[in-house]
Amino acid sequence: MPQRPYVIDEMISAKQIAARIEELAGEIRHEFADTDKLVVVGLLRGSFVFIADLVRELDLPVEVDFLEASSYGNATESSREVRILKDLRGEIAGRDVLVVEDIVDTGYTLSHVKHLLDGRQPRKMKIIALLDKPARREVEMQADWTGFTIPDEFVVGYGIDFAQRNRNLPFIGKVRFTD
Ligand code: PRP
Repeated sequence: MPQRPYVIDEMISAKQIAARIEELAGEIRHEFADTDKLVVVGLLRGSFVFIADLVRELDLPVEVDFLEASSYGNATESSREVRILKDLRGEIAGRDVLVVEDIVDTGYTLSHVKHLLDGRQPRKMKIIALLDKPARREVEMQADWTGFTIPDEFVVGYGIDFAQRNRNLPFIGKVRFTD
């Protein structure tokens, strides 16, 4: 399918993201101050940039693991089916876990993942999402920490793709179609 022409307008700058991550990392450090070793779980693929920046601000003993869940195809609309494409490598029973997500949209991905990981009985599990689009929510889901609450715009960059492109933009941009 040919791609509609579009441009990307900057919405949240790399500097704003870095400043917010520093703030959030302070709160997370406080929350997990007594942890032995925090398991930081990134949800692939969208969170790979966020988790990389976040763990480097944490200054806590961490283990990093990844889980891949998918609710979108290459389209802009999410489907309701959430599939686990790649599971964690490690066990989380009795551990402290921080789930790192790039964006909460309908909420299906996170609610599915939360339910799945809760069933493995971690000692404590918290969720951080860089972006939250509450206007799109279809199931009740709220991260414990949110970087930025955004309007219902189609966003890309800082790990988030548009048809698998633009994940490497250092900022969060808004897609504007020009046709
Ligand atoms: C996107 C995004 C979130 C999820 C949010 O992932 O990264 O994980 O959708 O949508 P929801 O709240 O409506 O479930 P996607 O499945 O596109 O995979 P990706 O992270 O590999 O891009």
